[in-house]
Amino acid sequence: MDVVILKDDAEVAAEAATIIRQLLRQKPDAVLGLASGNTPLATYRRLIQDCKQGLISFRDVTTFNLDEYIGLSAEDPQSYRHFMQRELFHHIDIDPGSTFLPECGVGEDPLAIGPAYEALIRSRGGIDLQILGIGQNGHIGFNEPASSLRSRTRVKTLTRDTVEANRKYFDDPLKQPRTAITMGIGSIMEARQVLLLATGASKAEAVRQAIEGPVAAMCPASMLQMHETVTVLLDREAASRLELHDYFEWVAEQKRLLLDSRADA
Ligand code: GLP
Repeated sequence: MDVVILKDDAEVAAEAATIIRQLLRQKPDAVLGLASGNTPLATYRRLIQDCKQGLISFRDVTTFNLDEYIGLSAEDPQSYRHFMQRELFHHIDIDPGSTFLPECGVGEDPLAIGPAYEALIRSRGGIDLQILGIGQNGHIGFNEPASSLRSRTRVKTLTRDTVEANRKYFDDPLKQPRTAITMGIGSIMEARQVLLLATGASKAEAVRQAIEGPVAAMCPASMLQMHETVTVLLDREAASRLELHDYFEWVAEQKRLLLDSRADA
């Protein structure tokens, strides 16, 4: 795991956007795994800026989002589809037909969505880079604690804590879904590269468990310790409980020195 501690949300977004830019330059038809929630918003804004300035293009990019609520239509402002259109897709040059979420339309069988979604991801060659946020309880996507570490895309019931944490987005609590379709932990682990973003003190404990705790179903994000290529971008607050905090900063310093010496050579 490459753990990078940055000053604040803006630095996290700048670094995340740089990593995504590099990927798109190498592979203009990359497949991106996207996340909703507050955390990636600043990164999406950077990408929109880059696209408007002609630094990158999403023309040949395909995106797969991690999750979607069951029972909200695409037009519902609280649906993740609506969120993605509003916060990213409408502002970049992506083909709307190349943006996917595990959506369950009216009359569709929620249990059939997961396998079909996974087949679609496979048919596009798999995910090159998966962006992740982390829940305060260590969830990734909507894989709540005690999710199987090898789980696939499926229906998941949210914990009461997650419902509570997301309540602020819903005017009418009765309309807030308790179930969602989420990529599984096993599905996420198949992405070739993972970028986990966490900002703010409320994430500090989940971040500590994910990076330094045991690999355990009680902290779904801890499974990322078993992934070959993970970069974790943290602001100071999210990193504040890490026991190896000083070590991660030391590593960053050594890397900088190494890069400088290569540039001098
Ligand atoms: C939500 C989403 C996750 C997201 C997480 C954190 O419930 N399903 O994909 O990463 O919780 O959200 P936020 O970034 O708003 O803190």
